[in-house]
Amino acid sequence: MLKKLQAITGLIFATFVAVHLLNTWLAGLGPAAYDGVQVALRQVYQFIFVEVLILSALLVHVVAGVMRIVKEPKRTLTIRARVHRYAGFFLMLVILGHILAVRGSSMFFDVYPGFAGLAFSIEFLPGFFYPYYLLLGVAGFYHALNGSGIALQRLSGRLGGLGWRFVLPQRRLALASSVAALVMVVSLLGFGGVWFDVGDVASSDFARLAKELLGVETTP
Ligand code: HEM
Repeated sequence: MLKKLQAITGLIFATFVAVHLLNTWLAGLGPAAYDGVQVALRQVYQFIFVEVLILSALLVHVVAGVMRIVKEPKRTLTIRARVHRYAGFFLMLVILGHILAVRGSSMFFDVYPGFAGLAFSIEFLPGFFYPYYLLLGVAGFYHALNGSGIALQRLSGRLGGLGWRFVLPQRRLALASSVAALVMVVSLLGFGGVWFDVGDVASSDFARLAKELLGVETTP
């Protein structure tokens, strides 16, 4: 029962992560592509019932994961399963902060981060935000892709008996994750203003709010 719940909630959240990462990857094409798609998608994933569904699925998925670890402490794990678990631990560690930072601003202050907000965070603290976003994107991609295969296999029942394989072979998973990491780097360099001019992001609404909340002044 716990495994099924983990699989169902994982698939719901992974659907959001897939859409969300595809949106993030558009940053390599410029602010208009990133913001345009985000504004359109937001109508769906921030529609109250959808947002509650996504965030509840995340919560239940995390709780089910922790319960399984507590219940089966001696389970021996393959390297692949270990990487999956470590990616999950990292996501667990940062997800609340991520949601508060990027969704809290619009929920409590009506300020959406958008391209300029993320570009500001990178301009403000590049040594932290480049590796943090890269890890977030790659851990999210790996955990969602590998987890979706396991979940579909678990839920497929009879289809599994017919020989349907949803779990990606190791090499394909590694290849897909490497490509995702590369695309993520290209996108982050887009936010960082390497491919095109990102403008005065320190004057964006999100930057002003962040500076006000943090009590810092970055302009000379
Ligand atoms: C490094 C890549 C990522 C970047 C740059 C990023 C950026 C953002 C931004 C800007 C928002 C606000 C969206 C909006 O206002 O419409 C957001 C929301 C969110 N992100 Fe990420 N994100 C990244 C990766 C991830 C990953 C891997 C996960 C999950 C594992 C995730 C989970 C979420 C969640 C749950 C929300 C809140 C959705 C909502 O309630 O509207 N993000 N992210």
